[in-house]
Amino acid sequence: MQTRPILEVSGVTKRFGGVTAVNRCSLSLARGKIYGLIGPNGSGKTTLFNCITGLERRDEGEVRFKGGRIDGLKPHQVARRGIGRTFQIIRVFPELTALENLLVVTQGPFEAARRRAEELLRFVTLDRLQNEYAGNLSYGQQKLLEFVRVLMTDPELILLDEPAAGVNPTLLNELLAAITGLRDQGKTILIVEHDMKVVMGLSETIFVLDYGEKIAEGPPGVIQADARVIEAYFGR
Ligand SMILES: Nc1ncnc2c1ncn2[C@@H]1O[C@H](COP(=O)(O)OP(=O)(O)OP(=O)(O)O)[C@@H](O)[C@H]1O
Ligand SMILES: [Mg+2]
Repeated sequence: MQTRPILEVSGVTKRFGGVTAVNRCSLSLARGKIYGLIGPNGSGKTTLFNCITGLERRDEGEVRFKGGRIDGLKPHQVARRGIGRTFQIIRVFPELTALENLLVVTQGPFEAARRRAEELLRFVTLDRLQNEYAGNLSYGQQKLLEFVRVLMTDPELILLDEPAAGVNPTLLNELLAAITGLRDQGKTILIVEHDMKVVMGLSETIFVLDYGEKIAEGPPGVIQADARVIEAYFGR
């Protein structure tokens, strides 16, 4: 039996004045898989994330999560439905500790949140730094912190915008292990990443954007050999 995709983006277009940042883009994500979203700078990857998570209002098209329309919802409503995301530019609170950075996003009983936060910090081996100000952590550690903060609310779909950028090789291995670990728990992950080794290694299916349009979709081996993709990356 074919189960319904967890996320369906259908014909989404987003314009900024004369620029069409996302152009009739359609993607379908099955539950429990890792997907890559790649494309040259300015090809619309972050804007598509913003349209999915309610930060930008799409001009055309539909976004469905678990079968229900989410285009038109506010970011906090999208988050509550079960979609978490990280940002391309780090958004941790430097003057709060690592632990506090996780606790600020939670609702409900404090003790349970604290236990979950400590468990997540252990998950990415930041537990010994839990009382350190986030501003004192290395760039890579801050990226890991932001990554686990998304997990505090236990989202079913996780959108990661360049999680590996600027992360050193040791921390990168932890991040990759954490991402595949989430997939093994049944989470669905869509990852924007410029590091081809990372994105090709993680993803089962890759979507390629160019000038806001999806120009290719398929497994890494097929994408690497796709003439339009090579042209988009190297042909100009
Ligand atoms: N708020 C905005 N106002 C006007 N134009 C925007 C805005 N956000 C994005 N754009 C434009 O939309 C296009 C897509 O940008 P976007 O940031 O989505 O690309 P990207 O694929 O994430 O790029 P990068 O790989 O550099 O992060 C670009 O031409 C960009 O200049
Ligand atoms: Mg971007």
